[in-house]
Amino acid sequence: MIDTSEFRRVLGHFTTGVSIVTTVRADGRPCGLTVNAFSSVSLQPTLVLVCVEKVSDSHGCIHASGIYAVNVLEEGKGESLSRRFATWAVEDKFEGVAYRDAKTGAPVLEAALAWVDCRVVEGVSVGDHTVFIGEVLDADAREGRPLVYYRGGYGRFEP
Ligand SMILES: Cc1cc2nc3c(=O)[nH]c(=O)nc-3n(C[C@H](O)[C@H](O)[C@H](O)COP(=O)(O)O)c2cc1C
Repeated sequence: MIDTSEFRRVLGHFTTGVSIVTTVRADGRPCGLTVNAFSSVSLQPTLVLVCVEKVSDSHGCIHASGIYAVNVLEEGKGESLSRRFATWAVEDKFEGVAYRDAKTGAPVLEAALAWVDCRVVEGVSVGDHTVFIGEVLDADAREGRPLVYYRGGYGRFEP
């Protein structure tokens, strides 16, 4: 076993994109959080995964709804969206954020560079997180540059 802060420091060297995972509450209001633990899993069937901390508000929302969308963020305004969806201090994270409902009913953000709309096929409890494996039922992407996350800071992708 290694120390948690050392674990975070070392794993922070793995560069990722940043996404907002969205779903809906039982009363229909949207719910979501910033996630970089997102990965493609399988081509046939088309599966992805997100790792969500069990204590987060969004964990209960995804568990109950059985659906989620992953919204890949763009550089520029993606950074403020990332910060907004990574805090508990905001009463309504979606206030002033444009979105529409995807096929499953999960909110797809207008600001998303790419998105996948998923139905949860399995939730695997692993340590303090749940790995929600989702079957991708719809997806799209547009031109733009991604928001990048490296060693706890935001950056840009320069080809
Ligand atoms: C760049 C970044 C990446 C993050 N990645 C994850 C992640 O993969 N899984 C997770 O559970 N939390 C992740 N978080 C933390 C959550 O966004 C944060 O705990 C959030 O406040 C949870 O919101 P909620 O309780 O309203 O659901 C990340 C935060 C940031 C800033």
